[in-house]
Amino acid sequence: MHVQVMDHPLIQHKVTLMRMKETGSKDFRDLLVEITMLMGYEITRDLPLEDVEIETPITKMTGKQLSGKQLGIVPVLRAGLGMVQGLLNLIPTAKVGHIGLYRDPKTLKPVEYYCKLPDVQDRDFIIVDPMLATGGSAAAAITMLKNRGIKNIKLMCLVAAPQGVQEINKQHPDVRIFVAALDDKLNENGYIVPGLGDAGDRIFGTK
Ligand code: PRP
Ligand code: URA
Repeated sequence: MHVQVMDHPLIQHKVTLMRMKETGSKDFRDLLVEITMLMGYEITRDLPLEDVEIETPITKMTGKQLSGKQLGIVPVLRAGLGMVQGLLNLIPTAKVGHIGLYRDPKTLKPVEYYCKLPDVQDRDFIIVDPMLATGGSAAAAITMLKNRGIKNIKLMCLVAAPQGVQEINKQHPDVRIFVAALDDKLNENGYIVPGLGDAGDRIFGTK
């Protein structure tokens, strides 16, 4: 199973707070932004740099800056929206696409309802979705990006089930998966156990 579990103590602490059923929507949203920033710091470690000639108040020097290669962030609606701001805080120039998918509660299969992506020219993409359960939604989102010619894709989730990771590994072995926590299993309704419940409902206060 290929997945990078980002288990920094701050991340583990914050994920525990998010799992607690008494945590309300505002705190849940704020924690999700904070964790996304902590994860984003590592996930963007391989961003290409280029030299830039600058002048400090003391002397001229060659500094480093992010190269022209642009980043695309693609949240899977709805819950993925909760992870966008954390990455934008780190990379304000990133462009944001949106993929609309919901999981049919009976079949657990993803149903597509929206797709709007920035231009793919020389761009790396990070798909964000807090929950990787059966993997059906993330796999479909990756396929939608690939069908539009996008090659360099990372998948960033908060909590994953082993089944979801295996599904992405099988369908998209080229896509690196980053998670804050790898949980035990899925229950009979396709929810991650122990998980944190329905991420979209907890972010937006629905249900
Ligand atoms: C959740 C979650 C993922 C999907 C994961 O979305 O945000 O997109 O389920 O499940 P899977 O790995 O089994 O496909 P949901 O369908 O509940 O929609 P929402 O974000 O609109 O609440
Ligand atoms: N979607 C969620 O929001 N939570 C789960 O546990 C599984 C799918």
